[in-house]
Order: sequence, then structure tokens, then C-alpha cells
Amino acid sequence: EDTHKIRASLLEWYDKNQRDLPWRTSTKKSENGENVQEEEEEKRAYGVWVSEVMLQQTRVQTVIDYYNRWMLKWPTLQHLSQASLEEVNEMWAGLGYYRRARFLLEGAKMIVAEGSEFPSTVSALRKVPGIGDYTAGAIASIAFKQVVPVVDGNVVRVLARLKAISANPKDKTTVKNFWKLAAQLVDPSRPGDFNQSLMELGATLCTPLNPNCTSCPVSSQCRALHNSRNDESVMVMDY
Ligand code: ADE
Repeated sequence: EDTHKIRASLLEWYDKNQRDLPWRTSTKKSENGENVQEEEEEKRAYGVWVSEVMLQQTRVQTVIDYYNRWMLKWPTLQHLSQASLEEVNEMWAGLGYYRRARFLLEGAKMIVAEGSEFPSTVSALRKVPGIGDYTAGAIASIAFKQVVPVVDGNVVRVLARLKAISANPKDKTTVKNFWKLAAQLVDPSRPGDFNQSLMELGATLCTPLNPNCTSCPVSSQCRALHNSRNDESVMVMDY
């Protein structure tokens, strides 16, 4: 019951409040009423992949320009697979952690070499260079509607507060438990939007310091707020 309420409230909030970001091309029905087709999914997967890799160490505002420039130069996986490491590094200049750019290039080459079909499941995605649990979950859920969770630092903090969980976030079993919790919570009808709503909530309202609980769509389900522990240092420091 709590789970259903949390899903509905988060999705409703996300529909109204999501930031308009270039990689968030609509997944809604097209004008003639047809659902987005498979070819579109593959296109979206490439955009989600590039954006999520860029977002791993860089804030959204910075990523937007880099993402737009990248997609102009290499609009598809096939275009990227023809690029050189020098070109890719040049495009990445200023983002740091250049390994990420090399992995994108190597991954694109690998997928194209193996027949260009974009992997759509977490286990297939994990075989691509540089794609870990986070990126695999993001691509599978956002682009391919697979019902899988995505956990990053924001999601850990949101879930820790929602369920009032105190644990050492550096502990491997802690992180595992948050993946399990996120897997139970993910909305089976809109997994990509649900996962992004958690990330978005962590980035905009459920911030490490001074969370904006009065605007939060799940405040009435939040155990940390209920226990008046929403701004307690343990929640802030640990998550
Ligand atoms: N941070 C990283 N990826 C994100 C996404 N898809 N939506 C919101 N915040 C994010």
C-alpha cells in the first residue's frame, strides 16, 4: 500500500516537475497515436548512455552543452564508432575522467562490430566496456522499459530517508541492500520515469542539506520526516 502510494506520488510529481533536458525525449505516444517503435528505442538508448556517462561525475548544467555538442558531431552509435580517440578526447575536454570518453568509443565500436543491435538487458549491457550496474540499469529502464532499479548517491539518500535506514553507505552490503529496496519499489509500468523521479527528487528537493520536505510528493510516506530525523546529521552525513 505504501509502495503504491509512493510510486503514484513520485510519478505524478515527476510528470509536472521534471526538468526539460535534451536527452529526455518524450516516451509518450506520437501524434498519430502509435507508441515509439524499436528503432526509436535504440536511438534513445544511445542518448541515454552518453548522458548518463557524462552525468556520473559532472553536474546537469555543465552536461547539457557537452551533450548537445556530442550529439551534433556523432548523432548515432554508428557515427561514434567511426570516431578517433583524439576526437573523442577533444570533445570531452573539460569534463575530466577521460576514461569515460574512451569507454564510450570502445563500447560503440564493440556494439557496431557485433551487429549494431543495442543491448537492452542489464546482463547484456554489463558486457559493454565501461557500463556498470548504474549505467546498465539506467539504459535498460529508461530506453527499453525493463523493470530494473537504478541506484546512485541521490537514490541512496532518498531511500534512506524514506525508510529511515541508518547504515554505513561505504559498506558494500549497504549498497546491495539499497539495490534490493529500489528493485522492490520500481514501478513496473513506468520504470524509467520512476527511476528518474528518484534521482530528480534527490537532486532538487531531497538534498543532503536543508531538504525541502514541504514541497516533497512523498513527505507523508517519509519515515525520516515522521521521526523528525529528516535534517538530522546522521541522515545528512551518511547519505
Ligand atoms: N542524474 C543522473 N542521471 C539522471 C537522470 N536520468 N535524471 C535525473 N538526474 C540524473
